[in-house]
Amino acid sequence: MHVIDGKKLADDIIAEVALDVKQLVELGKAAPGLAVVLVGEDPASAIYVRNKIKRAQQAGMKSIEKRLPVDCSQSELEAVVEELNQRHDVHGILVQLPLPKHLSEERIIRLIAPHKDVDGFHPENVGLLATGQASLIPCTPLGCLEMLKRELGDLSGKHAVIVGRSNIVGKPMANLLLQANCTITVVHSRTSNASSLARQADILVAAVGVPELIDETWVKPGAVVIDVGINAIERDSKRKLVGDVNYEKVAPYTRAITPVPGGVGPMTIACLMKNTLVAAQHTAH
Ligand code: GUN
Repeated sequence: MHVIDGKKLADDIIAEVALDVKQLVELGKAAPGLAVVLVGEDPASAIYVRNKIKRAQQAGMKSIEKRLPVDCSQSELEAVVEELNQRHDVHGILVQLPLPKHLSEERIIRLIAPHKDVDGFHPENVGLLATGQASLIPCTPLGCLEMLKRELGDLSGKHAVIVGRSNIVGKPMANLLLQANCTITVVHSRTSNASSLARQADILVAAVGVPELIDETWVKPGAVVIDVGINAIERDSKRKLVGDVNYEKVAPYTRAITPVPGGVGPMTIACLMKNTLVAAQHTAH
């Protein structure tokens, strides 16, 4: 068994992106610009946003942070997105989710110009992914795919079981792995025999948001396990971050496993930088 070092891989990817950014600038193009929009004061979201800005700067990109109060209106938020759509120095736009309940995520995602949608959440980009034509692919599944390819090489013929069916992870992960010639099973809260299906997987991707749901009874010996969950729990009166996988119980049976933290999380941000570079390379400015 070995532990997949997401932090190290992410550092490598960001160094590669930084080289490409440098080349772009040397050709006389503007540095890629990433705009991150944060509504409200949710502490976890604020940490994610801070990391994204920090990593963009490390890659030599321009970062633009827009903060709105938790009680801002739909039209105020839409005005911010529309302004960013117009700006020539902004190549990528990310609106941090979840948004406060009174705002429509669906309408905001549809408003982002598809060529600046570095999250890959716009229906146009979702459709392109489903038909194998995508260029902006959701960052978390893209990071998971990169780790799987580095671990296993060719993924053709592998059976991948994805636990969770969210628009952000589960569904795009299924599409990406299908494209990579895997056989796909998606299990979710209404699946009656989830653990026995999971036990057939060569590749197990956990993205449900239930702390330590997956124990050794879900895992075939020798499987590669990717844990997308980041759950804050209290244990022994200490706050702790755990994944959707019970790491202690599962790790000994795996070929390779991602830790939480330090696995998928850093890779998500590295892929966001990749997407921002791709978006900038596709525009003339
Ligand atoms: N919140 C949790 N994950 C994500 C993500 O990948 N993108 C955005 N915009 N918000 C998130």
